[in-house]
Amino acid sequence: MHILGIETSCDETAAAVVAETDMADRPWQIRSNIVASQVAIHREWGGVVPELASRQHIRDICGVVERALADARLGLNDLDALAVTQGPGLVGSLLVGVAFAKSMALSLGIPVVPVHHLAGHIESLVLEHGELPVPSVVLVVSGGHTNLYLVPKPGVYRLLGRTRDDAAGEAYDKVAKLLGLGYPGGPVIDRRARDGRDDAIHFPVARMTHADRKAPALKGDLDFSFSGLKTAVARFVREREHVLPEPMIADVCASFQRSVIEALLDRTFEAAWRHDAQGVGIAGGVSANSRLRHDASARGQQVGLPVFVPNLALATDNAAMIAAAGLRGYRAGVTAGWDLNADASLTIG
Ligand code: KG4
Ligand code: ZN
Repeated sequence: MHILGIETSCDETAAAVVAETDMADRPWQIRSNIVASQVAIHREWGGVVPELASRQHIRDICGVVERALADARLGLNDLDALAVTQGPGLVGSLLVGVAFAKSMALSLGIPVVPVHHLAGHIESLVLEHGELPVPSVVLVVSGGHTNLYLVPKPGVYRLLGRTRDDAAGEAYDKVAKLLGLGYPGGPVIDRRARDGRDDAIHFPVARMTHADRKAPALKGDLDFSFSGLKTAVARFVREREHVLPEPMIADVCASFQRSVIEALLDRTFEAAWRHDAQGVGIAGGVSANSRLRHDASARGQQVGLPVFVPNLALATDNAAMIAAAGLRGYRAGVTAGWDLNADASLTIG
């Protein structure tokens, strides 16, 4: 079985073909994985401009899909199903993918499987490493989300904690902007932090102890908060009248990064301990971070837990993960009607 995945939730137009294998523990194989990034367009504005993003998706999507099929050496009639990101994300961007997928599926007479973007990030781990040991705790950490999930069995995701304000990737992007380092902030802070001292400046990170008013079912102590950290960096920069020597910029990057990563890993390993997890996964754009990858594997070794991260191409937004989650959904009997619509605030768990 071959499925074509389509992902247009934010600023990457992506299409990929994933095939089913006959191995239960390694269920999927990537046949092609194409991403057209819009970073160059949004960089000029210091962040993603939704209107520009949706227009660019319209320009790119046909070419990206054609390329994904060509790389997989398949024709349209070799496809058995389509998977598309239904949400969450920017509604105008999502609509392009959803409308395209429905039209293509209707014309080919094949089903469409709706996929939650974060389920895609979680399944990127399975795509690369095979089925995770269960239960696993998976941190999904991206530009729009910082969510901690329990995966009690393959394909089931239970939300344990989430950010109350900024996502970790958003904090990276905002701090990079404050330091005049450009967009996106994650990769550049990651790089600049290597030359800095991570104990040079003490930036506090809030620890949540009270229940989340917006999600009362969550106890709250596995939640995150990064807006105070961002404000602390803003104050530090303002107090120096926005002129920081190069070595100090590196120190700010290293100290900020340490605070974010300690907060992420403290809660993740706390959750793993509480739920007697057999493995820890970290997925989403921020999982590309070199220190997060290094520290996570060191902590995993300390407590004897395997740690799974995706390779860099599967960490940031891509359609192979959407196709994989689509295959999971399809085998569980999930397909959409022709009234499928984009849902900017779709939730799971
Ligand atoms: O998953 P993703 O590609 O898109 C969303 O679903 O949001 O994540 C993008 C986010 C951006 O905020 C970007 O700054 C961050 O991932 N990111 C990183 C790194 N590479 C990308 N953050 C920290 N370190 C990195 N190396
Ligand atoms: Zn993402």
